[in-house]
Amino acid sequence: MLYMESATTIEQVRQSVAAARTAGKRIGFVPTMGALHAGHVSLIEAAIGRCGYVVVSIFVNPTQFGPGEDFDKYPRDLEADMSICKQAGVDLIFAPSASEMYQKENITWVSVDKLTLNLCGKFRPGHFRGVTTVCAKLFNIVQPDIAFFGQKDAQQALVIKRMVADLNMPLQIVVCPTVREPDGLAVSSRNKYLSAEERKDAVLLSAALAECEKLVAAGQRSCEALIEAMRKIISESSKAQIEYISIVDTETLADIDVIEGRALVALAVKIGSTRLIDNVIISYQPRSA
Ligand code: PAJ
Repeated sequence: MLYMESATTIEQVRQSVAAARTAGKRIGFVPTMGALHAGHVSLIEAAIGRCGYVVVSIFVNPTQFGPGEDFDKYPRDLEADMSICKQAGVDLIFAPSASEMYQKENITWVSVDKLTLNLCGKFRPGHFRGVTTVCAKLFNIVQPDIAFFGQKDAQQALVIKRMVADLNMPLQIVVCPTVREPDGLAVSSRNKYLSAEERKDAVLLSAALAECEKLVAAGQRSCEALIEAMRKIISESSKAQIEYISIVDTETLADIDVIEGRALVALAVKIGSTRLIDNVIISYQPRSA
């Protein structure tokens, strides 16, 4: 019989985690905003594989949404999330209220420079400051040994890794591969917003990335040419509005012109009013003479 604890207060989390630690367990942590899906479950499974006690947080964090973004309509279904977590073997679910997480006006922020200037950072001012601040708070509350993030949000994972390194936070960050639907669409809580027609067009994001991988394998190394090829594929949809298609250095996230070794290909596209992101890491291996 699977047993899962659920907590809404920071105090409860501290007590339960302290007891698990006293019992000699390694603490794994998966931060989420709920509306759990196969991508989240893959992180939970990775956590269970490496840790004796697994905590999942469910908190739609207001400070990472900009004005006019989807904070109000973000899907929330705590009952379904609890049952997914229980089924997956989670030990503790932490679902705090906004006032539990931000008791007073928040005037202390954690922000990571440079890595947040490009890609999504360019289009969502303040977003990463909200993410790093809430993750720093959650890490302080849960005090995990390992926290698990998805490659689906490649920039987020890199920014969190850098925050942990720069602030000497005593935990390890593990990044897990992107889980996809059978047709290639990256699984996302926001896919729920798509109409049937939009869902069909949404496959163009992963199709464009797959084409990019194919072109690189065939020897194309010009980022301009690769971006143009991806733009063409996505433009097949009349519902698609491209926010960015970028090819960047995997460490600095700065734009690059020519593929040499590894590169991150990342894009953000609105299908109708739904903003979707996806990415792949490509690598160019020169043929030996
Ligand atoms: P959320 O969008 O709920 O995602 C929680 C975690 O699940 C993130 O690490 C994300 O990268 C991962 N994830 C989402 N879709 C995935 C997929 N298809 N495959 C693999 N992993 C996937 O990201 C957030 O919440 C928030 O910003 C948070 C970190 C919780 C801070 O509020």
